[in-house]
Amino acid sequence: MLGTQWGDEGKGKVVDYLASDASMVVRFQGGNNAGHTIVFGGRKFKLHHIPSGILRGGIKAVIASGCVVDPLVLRKEIEELKERGIDTSPLVLSTRAHLILPIHRVMDAQEERLRDSSGGKRVGTTKRGIGPAYSDKASRVGLRVGELLDWERFQRLYLRHFEIKRRVIESYGESVDLDPEATLKELREAREVLLPFIQDHFPLVQDAVKRGENILLEGAQGTFLDIDWGTYPFVTSSSTVAGNACSGTGVGPKDISEIWGVVKAYTTRVGEGPFVTELHDEYGERLRVSGGEFGTTTGRPRRCGWLDMVMVRTAVRLSSIEHLAITKLDVLSGMGTLKVADYYLHNGKKLYYYPDSTYLLEEVEPHYVEMSSWDSTENITTPENLPRELKEYLRLIEKESGARISLISYGPSREETLVLYEGRKM
Ligand code: GDP
Ligand code: IMO
Ligand code: MG
Repeated sequence: MLGTQWGDEGKGKVVDYLASDASMVVRFQGGNNAGHTIVFGGRKFKLHHIPSGILRGGIKAVIASGCVVDPLVLRKEIEELKERGIDTSPLVLSTRAHLILPIHRVMDAQEERLRDSSGGKRVGTTKRGIGPAYSDKASRVGLRVGELLDWERFQRLYLRHFEIKRRVIESYGESVDLDPEATLKELREAREVLLPFIQDHFPLVQDAVKRGENILLEGAQGTFLDIDWGTYPFVTSSSTVAGNACSGTGVGPKDISEIWGVVKAYTTRVGEGPFVTELHDEYGERLRVSGGEFGTTTGRPRRCGWLDMVMVRTAVRLSSIEHLAITKLDVLSGMGTLKVADYYLHNGKKLYYYPDSTYLLEEVEPHYVEMSSWDSTENITTPENLPRELKEYLRLIEKESGARISLISYGPSREETLVLYEGRKM
């Protein structure tokens, strides 16, 4: 299950819902740049590192090899969940995941400043150290979670890593305001909390596959934040598409039976970068306010715009998505006229797939289909009693995407969800 837009599609809620009959939820990429809000029983939970399956109880929640993990943040997240009475014992932290260290956060902020002051553009990152941690992984100087198992060795590796980073940072005229001994102390305390969860997750996941259990592989971020397929360079540092669900978890491609994409009924984006259907008028403001479009991680207001089927269509093809979950349909209630982009126009040419260039995206014009909104989603109980206009909206999404809508969501809570396709195996 993955996001088809720029993140914040409501993946947390959909995973929580679909996890009801899964034995395991496995996160395949990303770190605490992710922010998932889940509401149930009148309580609100905000998760960053831990897959939302943890709230179902008894389901293994695995942070797998494709992820990056900030041990200090994860420690806090575990402790907060415990304080709220959530059983965190099903959490598994893969030895193969990479560590986000305090220095990575410093570098993330500095790199953003450098991009700005060198006449470039900021990415608008979450400043959680994601880019620097994934860069270290690719440069083969990163530290993995498994290193925490041997504290003596970890200390040596950590101090060496710190020294390399300090020299690099000072070489471009910045300073490092971090005491490596003090951060080591914090890491040691976090380690004590994390140790019981750390293991090689591969045998665990493979045994579950062999037993034929339902396993939900969960993506963070969204398709257009993907490092290869997103709006580069305004992207995150990992691969968010279905192809990476295998590499990021150790589950082979033939063991995946269903691929789900989550689509917000309109489009939002946090941070910089192109956004073809962005609204700068009162409609955009209305979506932001009634959709509560403020980042779960950074609190930044999200940029809002109409639903863009060029994006969704591309995401569906890229990830072989068969099932769509459409969220936040309630937010479009009473909007009057709704618009949906079905293609872009560039110098008189129609573009049906997302273009490969950020420069070209600045020149395209969206072509819109206009529709009427529905009055309310309050009385929805069955697929039959959906408002006529809402049915037409869903039909358009199916026609333009080529995927089936299997679930709709019209409110943040578990109850405000309707499964439209009962034939699913899960
Ligand atoms: P994620 O990052 O994809 O998990 O999404 P976020 O949790 O960051 O953002 C989605 C927000 O929308 C959260 O605050 C959810 O509680 C909320 N949400 C999810 N589904 C719905 C829905 O159908 N209607 C409304 N009004 N809110 C929803
Ligand atoms: P979830 O899982 C929305 C965005 C940041 C920035 C870009 C790069 O909640 O959908 P990074 O810190 O990853 O280097 O920032 O990516 N971004 C997200 N936007 N939802 C997310 O996660 C995001 N994670 C990163 O705003 O534009
Ligand atoms: Mg989010």
